[in-house]
Amino acid sequence: MDMSFYRILHIIGILLLFQSLGAYLFNAMTDRASGDKSALKMVTRLHGLGLLLIVISGFGMLAKLQLFWPLPGWIWIMLIVWVLSGLSVFLVKKNPASARMWWILTIVFGVVTVLMGVLKPF
Ligand code: HEM
Repeated sequence: MDMSFYRILHIIGILLLFQSLGAYLFNAMTDRASGDKSALKMVTRLHGLGLLLIVISGFGMLAKLQLFWPLPGWIWIMLIVWVLSGLSVFLVKKNPASARMWWILTIVFGVVTVLMGVLKPF
């Protein structure tokens, strides 16, 4: 598998993750009665699929870039963002009032990971 394959997979995963986080957080922020459980199920499934694509392609790219242990600092940032974006839906489910904070954090996550992935600063 070549680098472009993993890169494309990484970006598709990112699109799915951010689309689903947007929908999930908006739903929580507007405190909807959640009458349509199947829509929410679709969103949480896409959230999981996005995370899976991101981590598989991420490690694939690390191998292609010949980056092994110890991992560079910018990868640790990506890993932390990955874990937090995964946890966010569970934390928001427990505490819907935190949805606004996660909304802002998600934007920060997007900006930070783009900077890390493109600039690889440390
Ligand atoms: C939610 C979590 C993540 C987001 C939003 C994210 C986002 C990005 C973005 C926007 C890029 C730049 C893409 C490009 O230049 O083509 C990138 C590159 C990269 N990401 Fe991630 N990433 C995440 C998680 C991860 C994880 C978990 C890993 C590995 C364990 C990883 C490994 C990489 C690598 C190795 C690159 C460099 C690719 C290159 O040199 O072209 N990422 N990531």
